[in-house]
Amino acid sequence: MRVLRRTLGTLLALGALGVCVSCTPARGDAGPDDGRPGGPRPAALGPYERLVPAPASARADGPGYLFGAGTVIRTGADASEEVRRVGELLAEQLRGPSGLPLPVVDGQDGDGIRLLLDGAAEGTGEEGYRLRTDPTGITLTARTPTGLFHAGQTLRQLLPVRGTGTVPGGTVTDAPRFAYRGAMVDVARHFFPLEQVERYVDQLARYKVNTLHVHLTDDQGWRLAVDSWPKLAEYGGGSEVGGGPGGHWTKEEYRELVAYAAERYVDVVPEIDMPGHVNAAQASYAELNCDGKAPERYTGIKVGFSSLCVGDELTYRFIDEVLGELAELTPGKYLHIGGDEAHSTPAADYAAFMDRAQQVVARHGKTVVAWHQLATARPAPGAVLQYWGHDRTAAAEKAAVVAAGKAGHPVILSPADRAYLDMKYDATTKPGLAWAGYVPVERSYSWDPGSYLAGLPESAVLGVEAPLWTETIANRGDWELMAFPRVLGLAELGWSPKSALGWDGYARRLAAQGPRLDAQDIAYHRAPDVPWGE
Ligand code: ACM
Repeated sequence: MRVLRRTLGTLLALGALGVCVSCTPARGDAGPDDGRPGGPRPAALGPYERLVPAPASARADGPGYLFGAGTVIRTGADASEEVRRVGELLAEQLRGPSGLPLPVVDGQDGDGIRLLLDGAAEGTGEEGYRLRTDPTGITLTARTPTGLFHAGQTLRQLLPVRGTGTVPGGTVTDAPRFAYRGAMVDVARHFFPLEQVERYVDQLARYKVNTLHVHLTDDQGWRLAVDSWPKLAEYGGGSEVGGGPGGHWTKEEYRELVAYAAERYVDVVPEIDMPGHVNAAQASYAELNCDGKAPERYTGIKVGFSSLCVGDELTYRFIDEVLGELAELTPGKYLHIGGDEAHSTPAADYAAFMDRAQQVVARHGKTVVAWHQLATARPAPGAVLQYWGHDRTAAAEKAAVVAAGKAGHPVILSPADRAYLDMKYDATTKPGLAWAGYVPVERSYSWDPGSYLAGLPESAVLGVEAPLWTETIANRGDWELMAFPRVLGLAELGWSPKSALGWDGYARRLAAQGPRLDAQDIAYHRAPDVPWGE
């Protein structure tokens, strides 16, 4: 992170020297007055001005490159297997919309789209990149394959939505502000097949989101097969909110998701929520209940009524075996153990349980992530806290998170009244909840993660995550209506430098994404405060 920060510092210094840093026009930038009602029509944004997330630096200059029938993708004569794979995936992503064959070839000599690994690429860090367009082609340069992948996603936005065309000459130099840029899906309240989650991964990766947090278990369903406790998925997976059939993923399916996400440089963070939110587990195994009686499966949307039996050693064998199998399936470093809304677990029991659960995670070689209630107990060294409070959250609760952040616990910000994608946009939104208030697109975007929690230094902020809870969301249409377009703004908050943020500029860049969302068949919320179609 320190390296990244230095990088951004350099970029900002360039901005001070007059080099265009995030060339989004300032408010009031407008084209010629065409006399239409409401004033002049703003000048259309050029390709380098309409990128989401806004890059650290971008400018158009000079003649461009014709992306057309002769275009090839060049990965370099000595390209690694991985760079070649990034090139193949980029080709696949560009072939559909362009209709071009786009062969992937070895060797950098010649015109085309070039992917170049360069350990000395300045200003790009571990995930950033440089993109340069001139009449001979478009060169993507990065220190890592991750950076090349992100460069390719930027390139997609520079190209026409469909067909071929000329990309103007220009340069983008880019690197993320925060290391963690996440989205969460709750497949427990309603079960979703793998295809829908993979579709979302594709959509997220376009905007440089690098983490998919999957909420795998809750009162209403258990969604992942566990060999040592098979009834969890077989029985506990067979329910969901509203009484539908539910379902679960096999281990093979989960592995497929992890691999699919990894190809797009997205890490999967699995969550097994505990000690509350466990009715599906307790319905599957009577012995997980203090009274030895299995409850009915649950299909409502109340929270806080279930708790693992904290005083029983069997509980710890259970979490050890479940988390052990999950750790084995998960190459990423994080396991999320929930810890929220444990209203049926007395505070002392909660703290004692979370101590043991954190030890289990460490024993399986992973780092704990937990909802921010862990701050009120004893977060283990290195444990990451995910803040999901809102403007009305008690000051003492926020203070506990700030204190933990200052003591070295990285904090992921998911403020419910900004980042929760299941909050209704307004009173007319059909799906969704409103317990944190309505969250219109502008509200979702207009906050600064670096200064959001008073007293929490930016250096303690690991990043931003946009959770999608599914109590009221049971199909792809509602999922995408709620996620889009808000998730684009949250992706920008995680990636773009603070200097590039600002609603007026963002709203215009977001509007320019409309045709791209349409092309993906996403029925997004046409927020009235965004100038779609201008
Ligand atoms: C949460 O929304 N209960 C983390």
